[in-house]
Amino acid sequence: TTAPARTAFEDNDHKPVGHGRMLRKEDPRFIRGKGRYIDDLQLPGMLHLAVLRSPFAHAKVVSVDTGLAEEHPKVRLVVTGAMLAEKGLAWMPTLSNDVQAVLATDKVRFQGQEVAFVVAEDRYAARDALELIDVEYEPLDPVVDVRTALSADAPVIRDDLEGKTDNHCFDWETGDAAATDAVFARADVVVSEDIVYPRVHPAPMETCGAVADYDAVDGRLTLWSTTQAPHAHRTLYAIVAGLPEHKIRVVAPDIGGGFGNKVPIYPGYVCAIVGSLLTGKPVKWVEDRSENLTSTGFARDYVMRGEIAATADGRILALRTHVLADHGAFNGTAAPLKYPAGFFGVFTGSYDIEAASCKMTAVYTNKAPGGVAYACSFRVTEAVYLVERMVDCLAYELKADPVALRRKNFIRPDQFPYRTRTGWVYDSGNYAPTMELATRIAGYDELRAEQAAKRERGELMGIGVSFFTEAVGAGPRKDMDILGLGMADGCELRVHPTGKAVVRLSVQTQGQGHETTFAQIVAEEIGIPPQDIEVVHGDTDQTPFGLGTYGSRSTPVSGAAAALVARKVRDKAKLIASGMLEVSVADLEWSKGAFHVKGDPSASVTIQDVAMRAHGAGDLPEGVEGGLEAQICYNPENLTYPHGAYICVVDIDPGTAKVTVRRFVAVDDCGTRINPMIIEGQVHGGLTDGVGMALMEMVSFDEDGNCLSGSLMDYLLPTALEVPDWETGFTVTPSPHHPIGAKGIGESATVGSPPALVNAVVDALRPFGVRHADMPLTPSRVWEAMQGRATPP
Ligand code: CDP
Repeated sequence: TTAPARTAFEDNDHKPVGHGRMLRKEDPRFIRGKGRYIDDLQLPGMLHLAVLRSPFAHAKVVSVDTGLAEEHPKVRLVVTGAMLAEKGLAWMPTLSNDVQAVLATDKVRFQGQEVAFVVAEDRYAARDALELIDVEYEPLDPVVDVRTALSADAPVIRDDLEGKTDNHCFDWETGDAAATDAVFARADVVVSEDIVYPRVHPAPMETCGAVADYDAVDGRLTLWSTTQAPHAHRTLYAIVAGLPEHKIRVVAPDIGGGFGNKVPIYPGYVCAIVGSLLTGKPVKWVEDRSENLTSTGFARDYVMRGEIAATADGRILALRTHVLADHGAFNGTAAPLKYPAGFFGVFTGSYDIEAASCKMTAVYTNKAPGGVAYACSFRVTEAVYLVERMVDCLAYELKADPVALRRKNFIRPDQFPYRTRTGWVYDSGNYAPTMELATRIAGYDELRAEQAAKRERGELMGIGVSFFTEAVGAGPRKDMDILGLGMADGCELRVHPTGKAVVRLSVQTQGQGHETTFAQIVAEEIGIPPQDIEVVHGDTDQTPFGLGTYGSRSTPVSGAAAALVARKVRDKAKLIASGMLEVSVADLEWSKGAFHVKGDPSASVTIQDVAMRAHGAGDLPEGVEGGLEAQICYNPENLTYPHGAYICVVDIDPGTAKVTVRRFVAVDDCGTRINPMIIEGQVHGGLTDGVGMALMEMVSFDEDGNCLSGSLMDYLLPTALEVPDWETGFTVTPSPHHPIGAKGIGESATVGSPPALVNAVVDALRPFGVRHADMPLTPSRVWEAMQGRATPP
């Protein structure tokens, strides 16, 4: 039996935002197996596409012989890079203004790169036919180590770029280097550390895929694809393929997790389009797990030198860092154009310091392209890891308590809005109570006492603390664009005559529950119950233009759009209500989904009454058009800056060096909370990601550039066995510029948890004199650290 879904209005009297635990509207279809993912799509006459990938990390493509594959009885089409080049389609732009090969023509530049594709009557035949393609390669020396990518004798990977003579990708600087050097020169204490954030992969449960259907008669292309940004993708397809944008429809159906992995445009999508254009049939392409892990957008891969300067009594003065960023063979990061290193500029963290500077050098290597924001707002994860590790290194040197050291340096509440030394304006924050709550839930002092007793007995227990401030919700459009597309979001709301509504979003859910939370936001504003509000998203024909879901943009940008469009509808409804009640607008009060005449409780009309009048017979007030709908495009004034305090307790087996996460306390502040249950789910997921990155996950390569993490046997993901029962709490510091005060939450836990976990492991290893050890802290790495050997990345 199924219990009827609880609704906000039954339980919480017209207050759906923040309502206790409103169940997710989308779950009945997911838990009954009725989700509709790319691979569920079956179109009449549909063909299947498979991609031939390079076994080499770096090699010249001498020849590609497709003769035998073409003879396969079930094969309809075989396409090589040379064929695409004839049509001007062999290369495509990346979202970071680089170009990437759709199919290799001259060289392959990473293992797993796309070389040719086959379209056949079924998936098996397409795969079989790949075996019949004969490619002659001439292997070249690969560039695998980011540290030697710029050496004079390193082979040049991107010789496709005119005039390119080395593997340099870009340089970027922020802060004030001279002022920072001056502060460092007069500091009592300076601590430096080399810190690696290894290459990891978002590894969504559903791999990437597409179904392309080109209708030659009316010149329309429909592309169902695993995309986090349907509108931006459509614009790029129009530009690259020269198809008119209004003839392209991009649909993102249900998506089984994105985490940044589904932001870039992959060659497979373009191949599916070409396959359909050339065969005149619908063509499906779905990656397997290895293809996803080895060829789609990775994350992180930063080699960082961190330096922190402080007074002897623990006042942090400055931070300085140099970063070597590995971007793989093509710069496939999706970041606002002005910010090639994403939002790494927030590496000053939650602390009021005097100066900061960062110099970054990004290089090409013979590895898969990417640098995507894996559950993170454009490199905020790397920034938070750097500062939170450095603060712990400082605590180590000063023999200071890591909670007390952080507290002493927090930006104070009266300093908000706070401009950081790298130019970011934190909208609001109140850090001390968040830290206080985390220490209270954890029982911090008791934990320290327990640890001291255990150390006496030779037991290895560690307590790790992190405190983070995130920057989420890109725009504003004056500062941020992706390939010239401004980072704003549209939203449209229509109220039907019977008082039910449909809200159309430009963002796209991948499991975060937008069908519920956006209905809650609109319900709160116009008083229609959330279950009567249909949320439409993920279809460019059905929704207004906007830049999509990543970097926790949805709530800060589209959530604001939804609230404002609803207010616009409510304003119009008020005019109509004034006519219905024959009073002036000023005499009306709004509460619980109805307009009431001030001082006369018996005279009121509900929003549903107004909806019927707006569409129905009878006069409307002068100048008011019929219908009850509105559309807006919301350009955020600023990012929102959620924060959080995390405390982690680990035990390490001294014999095997295995780390067990015993407890994890996460106190988050995402401003106004729309759906506490969904927030909790987002936090649980992010914390689990954090355990993966801190203890298990790394995409690694051998010296020939072979990817050693091409399956889930080799790329370890955390399961319920590796994680504790999460202990969560919250504080609420609303965003001053967001119409309902909400900030993002989707990525906070992924951002904040790795430093807490690593800080806990390093704390446990204090008796061994360990100040830092690099992720992932597998038993072998922890063991090496215990032996006094720094861990090579
Ligand atoms: O962009 P994305 O949806 O991944 O991230 P988000 O904006 O942080 O939202 C993740 C989920 O948490 C959405 O369903 C939001 O509506 C919900 N949320 C919430 O209930 N309250 C907040 N203050 C922030 C997010």
